Amino acid sequence: MALNIIFIGPPGSGKGTQAKRLAAQHAIPHISTGDMLREAVADGTELGRQAAPIMASGALVSDDLMLGIVNDRLAKADAAGGFILDGFPRTLVQAERLDAIIGNGAEPLRVLQLLVPDEAIVRRIALRRTCAQCGAIYHLENNPPANDSVCDRCGAEIVARPDDNEESVRRRLEAFHRQTLPVATFYKVKSALREVDGVGPVDVVFERIEKSLL
Ligand code: AP5
Repeated sequence: MALNIIFIGPPGSGKGTQAKRLAAQHAIPHISTGDMLREAVADGTELGRQAAPIMASGALVSDDLMLGIVNDRLAKADAAGGFILDGFPRTLVQAERLDAIIGNGAEPLRVLQLLVPDEAIVRRIALRRTCAQCGAIYHLENNPPANDSVCDRCGAEIVARPDDNEESVRRRLEAFHRQTLPVATFYKVKSALREVDGVGPVDVVFERIEKSLL
């Protein structure tokens, strides 16, 4: 049975960390809208030029742009056997239109909401570093790379994200509470939501996620 998974959680709650692991474990694609936008910015595409200032400010990119990207990505063959959406849907409009993209005959969505309090988020994001090349995620205290500032996986430089400053994180948290929490309620009403405690070691959170999928 195909696993069609959505990760919902505030910025820095561990969506990317856990989604990468889960995707490897179940051999399904990890579809991160944040990563897709960052790639577009790095490639200097029209989408990237439009998205860069919005992302840097911590606001959300428009629903129409995001729906276009996700529609195209889910149409690729590798998503037919299951997928993990990380960072999408983030608004009620995105959630409602996702149903139409996926279609009626699809396996039901399993929506995982990672619960992490705002105080913990600030510390996680302040010390996050990501690989500019392969996207691996580190934390300078909890999960540091073996060699300072070099990615363990590909050897490229690891850097802080441009939107990981205090002002942007504050706006991203606001956007989460105002625009994305209603999405969790949308799925709760449909009995698709599984709430997972996101506080604790990465391995322990991963075990909770696996259990919640049973
Ligand atoms: P996106 O890239 O999705 O950012 P985000 O939601 O703010 O989430 P983050 O990537 O910051 O955090 P995460 O939950 O993945 O945490 P991570 O695993 O890295 O989106 C960026 C921007 O793109 C948005 O602001 C918006 O502008 C735009 N965008 C994207 N999708 C959109 C959409 N659908 N609609 C509109 N706009 C959209 O972990 C964080 C840190 O904590 C790391 O250092 C990690 O090592 C550490 N950590 C992880 N787990 C643990 C643990 N259990 N204990 C301690 N530390 C941990």
